[in-house]
Amino acid sequence: MQMAQFFRVFVAAGVIGGAFVALAEAKSGWAPDPETGRALLAENCASCHAIDATGTSPIPEAVAFHEISERYPVQALEEALAEGIMVGHDGVPQMPEFRFDAIQIGDIVAYLESIQAE
Ligand code: HEC
Repeated sequence: MQMAQFFRVFVAAGVIGGAFVALAEAKSGWAPDPETGRALLAENCASCHAIDATGTSPIPEAVAFHEISERYPVQALEEALAEGIMVGHDGVPQMPEFRFDAIQIGDIVAYLESIQAE
């Protein structure tokens, strides 16, 4: 997939995703927990992606998560995560499909926001 096309999908997704997580928050009084988010990434993504605030990915082509905001807004990840990872993994045969619920996504996004370089 072309980068520009991918970016548009993500931005569109983020607008919807924000509402989605806000709904989960309103329903349950839940607040995002970055520690849980990190654990989910450790379990599902760490075999290929660097998931900490520093470091390089085990698979060099896989974006280090602390650099994700250099590519697109972290918020835009929400809906893509909900839809099942991942628009951006077209053509990555070893990349499995993931599905997370709204709570898990809120946690993941909170964690990702906490490790962005800037
Ligand atoms: C089996 C290896 C593997 C796993 C597991 C994996 N990824 Fe990836 N991921 C990749 C590779 C390789 C790329 C680079 C592909 C590309 O740029 O097209 C990538 C790219 C990405 C991108 C950037 C896409 C882009 O075009 O900028 C995001 C975001 C991403 N992965 C999120 C995740 C998340 C979140 C998880 C866990 C839920 C995950 N990945 C699990 C291999 C993996």
